[in-house]
Amino acid sequence: MTIDNLPSRPAASDRLRVARNDEPRPTDGELRRLVGLVEHDDSVDPFPVIGWDALVWVVGNATQTAHFLESAFGMRLEAYSGPETGNRDNKAFVLRSGGARFVVTGAVDPDSALVAHHHRHGDGVVDIALEVPDVDRCAEWARTHGATILVEPHDETDEFGTVRSAAVATYGETRHTLIDRSKYYGPYLPGYVARRSNYQPRAGTPVRLFQAIDHVVGNVELGMMDQWVDFYRRVMGFTNMAEFVGDDIATEYSALMSKVVANGNHRVKFPLNEPAAGKKRSQIDEYLEFYRGPGVQHIALATSDILTCVDTLRREGVEFLETPDTYYSDPELRARIGHVRVPVDQLQRRGILVDRDEDGYLLQIFCKPITDRPTVFFELIERHGSLGFGKGNFKALFQAIEREQESRGNL
Ligand SMILES: [Fe+2]
Repeated sequence: MTIDNLPSRPAASDRLRVARNDEPRPTDGELRRLVGLVEHDDSVDPFPVIGWDALVWVVGNATQTAHFLESAFGMRLEAYSGPETGNRDNKAFVLRSGGARFVVTGAVDPDSALVAHHHRHGDGVVDIALEVPDVDRCAEWARTHGATILVEPHDETDEFGTVRSAAVATYGETRHTLIDRSKYYGPYLPGYVARRSNYQPRAGTPVRLFQAIDHVVGNVELGMMDQWVDFYRRVMGFTNMAEFVGDDIATEYSALMSKVVANGNHRVKFPLNEPAAGKKRSQIDEYLEFYRGPGVQHIALATSDILTCVDTLRREGVEFLETPDTYYSDPELRARIGHVRVPVDQLQRRGILVDRDEDGYLLQIFCKPITDRPTVFFELIERHGSLGFGKGNFKALFQAIEREQESRGNL
């Protein structure tokens, strides 16, 4: 083959097809409804953020976790890196559902740094990667406002273009990779190849169960919540969204404090929890013990049809926290929630919680931890105008969590 008949770079339209891989991302209009996206002027933002790029996990068995996310959660495999592609350290599977992208990584080389990480923390999220329009500007702002820059801004290039990225340390051993992929059309990052699995969803399964990431919750140590709220305000220009303290989310036994910060357009929302004094150990204490420090507690997945989503997940064996029947018969709740899109008995049958605020209502439900340790779990959320996080449900929910905690002997 001479230099003249080497395959040419794919045309832009072909490259776009490679990048998009058939999985459509929600439009801004859809995101307004799904996750409460708001208008925001990036030009006055010191740290503009477009949205979530990916949640990167370290797990004990990436091959099987990828299969679980496909078969149970309806995600689609898009890209892969591993020994077959020249990566002898680990296997990494890139999965997507609508705008939500997960990357699950697991060690292949017994001396991989992922082994030590997994030994300490178990399965969990190591990187909450954010897409930004200007990596250098964000990294510089973060640096001058006291953040630790783990990876300096740099380019990575392959036949699909160039990505520019940097990484900033956050709570525990978690990081935020900041990434500009506006000049990149590959399936994920240089080093990854497009890959599909031959998994076939059952007949009747919806095309996707959830469309976007709504929020990602961090658990931090007692006394550290305000410092991390301040970190996101100072280092990333986020603003406070909501605050729950004391009685809002206290049960007889344990309590927690929670504050929420969000980026300018509210696409990225980070509730931050810390334990609060209670008669017994709180669920946050249990997390901190088993994750060996601060980390991501739950990931809320936005769905446009939580009923079908829950039915499908249950059929695939996913377990949810049980909601007591008294929750639904409580006249206070009935009065508070008013009219919602389905009869309450439909929600009760599935254990779906309801909350209402001045902007509207939301339906939500929490899975049991998806890992062996009692650490990370998913929330499903269907918003109808409400921009909240289910404050009215916290007490009912935590009582349910505590019953689980007690059954593990950790209360
Ligand atoms: Fe949540």
